[in-house]
This record gives sequence, structure tokens and C-alpha cells, in this order.
Amino acid sequence: MPSEFELRRAICDIGRRIWTRGFVAANDGNISVKLDDNHLLTTPTGVSKGFMTPDMIIKVDRQGKKISGRLEPSSELKMHLAVYEMRPDVNSVVHAHPPHATAFAVTGMPIYKPIMPEVIISLGWIPVAPYGTPSTEELAETIRDHLGCHDAVLLENHGALTVGTDLTNAYFKMETIELTAQISLIARMLGGEREISPENVDKLIEVRKKMGIRGRHPAVTESCPSSPLVDEEGRMIASGQSDSRISDERLVRIITKVTQEVLAAIDG
Ligand code: 13P
Repeated sequence: MPSEFELRRAICDIGRRIWTRGFVAANDGNISVKLDDNHLLTTPTGVSKGFMTPDMIIKVDRQGKKISGRLEPSSELKMHLAVYEMRPDVNSVVHAHPPHATAFAVTGMPIYKPIMPEVIISLGWIPVAPYGTPSTEELAETIRDHLGCHDAVLLENHGALTVGTDLTNAYFKMETIELTAQISLIARMLGGEREISPENVDKLIEVRKKMGIRGRHPAVTESCPSSPLVDEEGRMIASGQSDSRISDERLVRIITKVTQEVLAAIDG
């Protein structure tokens, strides 16, 4: 078990990585780590995450109350607390705005096509949680519907959120979604992705099971959707789960899409 100082230093290292790799600009992004059952360490608000030192990291309790630190905790702490409350298996949360993944988030497009073995094995498909105002309870609520099935979620018109068994694990998932988004985008410019067949996807899921990889994955978590419901342009209409905060506009799009699919099936 790493010491508190080691965890503070690890947060600074990952902060430097997300800034150096262009996953955040200026003061964007936030990182947290579970210190023990009752306490978390979080990045401070309003500072560049690329230039933090261990003394700048804030200790808070599980209700978000500051225990120590001269700066204030991340304005997104509510979102981090919601993750730890929902997912006792999670020990670290990373939020950033990596440009290619965020481009999918701002167009409302989930990353769902099975195109690369590593992503199929590690994460499965990546949903888009509906927009919520940053720093408010609203944003925390929008991710709840997705965390049951996913360790990586795109935040509509905002960025990306990854969770993991430790800080490196959560951060690597951020690298994975960014690289996948970048490759998808380039592949589309070259004429479109070729998908891995369902039979080969099944084999990869077996590989995952044999490797004993931990964390949520839609293909190995009970009652998780195997893919999202998307419109003609690939924008996410619904996750396939019970979206509790579904808007009227989204509901109309779901009904239209389902009707189209039923009519197509009858025609076919
Ligand atoms: P904080 O500096 O308050 O963590 O906010 C950064 C951010 O990216 C908000 O979404």
C-alpha cells in the first residue's frame, strides 16, 4: 500500500503526463485517489495540473469536506465522490479533455465499433453521458447510468472520465480512449473502419477472462448493453440501459429509431 506522500507524488506525475500529452489545457482536468476508506486525495482547483507539487494536493473526507491543504479541492469533486460511492472497486478517478476523445463527446458520438483488440479487451464500447453543468450535482448524476457497465465515459460537450483500481490504471484508460478516438477519426478519413467480426470479438472477451482483467466491461457485466442505440450519423440516442434522466427530445429520437428498425425488419 503506497504512503500518502507517494500517492501525492503519483497524482503530480499523472497531472504532468495529462498536461504534457495535451489531454488538458491551462487549469483543466482533475485527479483523485482513495487514501483509505474515509479519505481521498484530490487535485486543487484552478491550477495547471502539469505543475503541481505534493504539498498542493488536498485531503478531503468522503463527504467532500476539506481535511488539509492550503488550496481548495477540485470543483469537480462531486463527480469524483459520486464515482467512489457507486463503485467500491474504484480507487482512482481521472477527468481530462483529450482532444480526439472530446471531439466524439462534443458530437455526441460514442466510441463503439469493435476495431482494435486491445480496446475490446480492456474497455469494450465507450458511451457518452448526457451534458451536465460542470461542478454541479447534475454532472455527477449524468454519469451514474453508465458507471455500472463502464470504466471510461465520454462527457457530452465536456471531456472524458476514467476510473480504475489505481491511479495508473485509471490514467491508462484515458490514454486508451484518446488513441482509439484518434485512430477512429483517421480511419474515417481513409474511408471508414473495418470492424472485427462478432466471432473474433467473442474470442477477445475470452482472452480478457483468461487474463483476469478487473474493472467494468459491458460484455462481461450482467445486463449491460452490447452496443449503444445510435442515429444515422452515429450519435448516441441511448445507452441501452435505463437512462433515468432522458429528455423529451431524446425520447422522440429513441422512438423514431426503434420504429425505423421495426419497419426495416418487417420489410426485410
Ligand atoms: P478544477 O481545476 O476545479 O478541478 O476544474 C478543472 C476542470 O476541468 C473542470 O471541468
